[in-house]
Amino acid sequence: MPLAKSLTDLYRRLQPTLGSEQTVVVVGANWGDEGKGKIIDLVMGFFDVVVRFSGGANAGHTVMTDEGVKVVTHLIPTGLAQGKVSVLGRGEFFNLELFLEELKMITQILGAKLAPVYIDQMAPLWTPWHGLLEIWFESVRGNSRIGTTNKAIGPLAALPKFRISPVVGDLFIDRPEFVAALTLLYQSFLPIFEAMKTTGLVAAEIPAPEAVADRLLGLAKEIKDKVIDTSYFLSRQLVEKKKILFEGAQAAGLDSTWGTYPYVSSGNSVAAGAPLGSGIPPSQIGAALMVAKTLPTRVGSGPFPSEMWERTAAQNFAKEHPELFTSAEAKKEFLAAALEKIKQGQVGHAELSQYFQVLGDERGATTGRGRSVGFIDIPWLQYATRINGPKWIALTRFDMLSGLPSIPVVMGYKFRGQILAAGQLPSARQLSEVEPILEAWACWPENIYGYSSWEDLPQGAKDFLNKLEEKVGVPILLVGTGPERSAVVIKPS
Ligand code: IMP
Repeated sequence: MPLAKSLTDLYRRLQPTLGSEQTVVVVGANWGDEGKGKIIDLVMGFFDVVVRFSGGANAGHTVMTDEGVKVVTHLIPTGLAQGKVSVLGRGEFFNLELFLEELKMITQILGAKLAPVYIDQMAPLWTPWHGLLEIWFESVRGNSRIGTTNKAIGPLAALPKFRISPVVGDLFIDRPEFVAALTLLYQSFLPIFEAMKTTGLVAAEIPAPEAVADRLLGLAKEIKDKVIDTSYFLSRQLVEKKKILFEGAQAAGLDSTWGTYPYVSSGNSVAAGAPLGSGIPPSQIGAALMVAKTLPTRVGSGPFPSEMWERTAAQNFAKEHPELFTSAEAKKEFLAAALEKIKQGQVGHAELSQYFQVLGDERGATTGRGRSVGFIDIPWLQYATRINGPKWIALTRFDMLSGLPSIPVVMGYKFRGQILAAGQLPSARQLSEVEPILEAWACWPENIYGYSSWEDLPQGAKDFLNKLEEKVGVPILLVGTGPERSAVVIKPS
């Protein structure tokens, strides 16, 4: 295997591309879990400040510190692990308790290297009632439940639209005023809370406004010096020629407006969410880097046109075969046997899905559920490109196709007898009706796990990437070949 190149070398080679951008927004192309954390970590060296503009504790971004310690963040931008100034923008859903837990964990790891972290004063503030509302709405949906991450993201996004949400800055107004704000929310949903109690949907007592105020105000002093108008702060940073990275969470398919509604999360995870969720005008947001997972995955419910196997079976597979994910021996044996069968052309799409689920350890970082795996989906990538307008693509987990004779790729969608034009989708509720048009693309025999240079890639892998780039119509800048920082190829333009 070629020697891994150092991060300094990577920066040197990316300098002509990323070095000239003052602001870049990193977004996901699929349904989350694209490995945005790794890409953000790789490019973070070019930036001074990192901002989250959407999502909340439902996200799970994994990065390594300079000392090689793994850090998983949910609310705090991952740039903090590299000692960058971090901002939780107005578009992020804020849970004070989870934030403090996460900050404690990061402080223990980073110690004196911890840089300032700021929270927007108007970000929606979690209360225990948000959690109850999420349980309620999911239970009313019955079989059509969204399969949320249980972080109350829907209520956190919805209550400001009803104009009854407390916000972070309310923690620092007079207590009676804060209690009044909480009471408005509590009273608005009291009949629902009472019904939940009567029907046994919740066992514990419903907390009253005074008790919720005690709980939150008791912690508020720990963030007092971190709460600011982040739009003002960020605009000053730009004037001072600082470089800002906007760290996307979730992805195009989970965006509440442009995703597969109603099976979406509740934030604006596409690039247009960056100006809205940070207070920096669109004209000052430079390039978008769209992270696409070679084999996209989905957890929870909702349409997924290129899905290989049935969702529930795929989600349960990881739970039913934990040893394949936890025992290195069992995993190795399973993968070797499965690959042999694939090479002999003896497998269907269910077995392919199982192979990739185990190979990629496709289990949710926040929920631990198995992720269902899909084929490369060109029409979806064309759609995500239209919505996000990326300047480049970062393609993650490309090594997973190593050793396969070929892989089906979705080239188009057929909907009610018609082939849809590039990037055209039916309404989200009709998306489950589309028939993917598959074409087999040749792979390559060499294992490219951990590769870090374009020159060393086998010709088969290069041909694959060139073809994909041409079909999607956006240059591929980075190609992930493994979890290590060094396992990334820069594709020449
Ligand atoms: P919520 O964001 O918890 O409301 O969940 C809504 C849907 O988005 C569910 O299907 C979740 O599984 C999915 N989801 C939310 N965040 C992520 C993520 O970071 N990765 C993958 N799926 C996610």
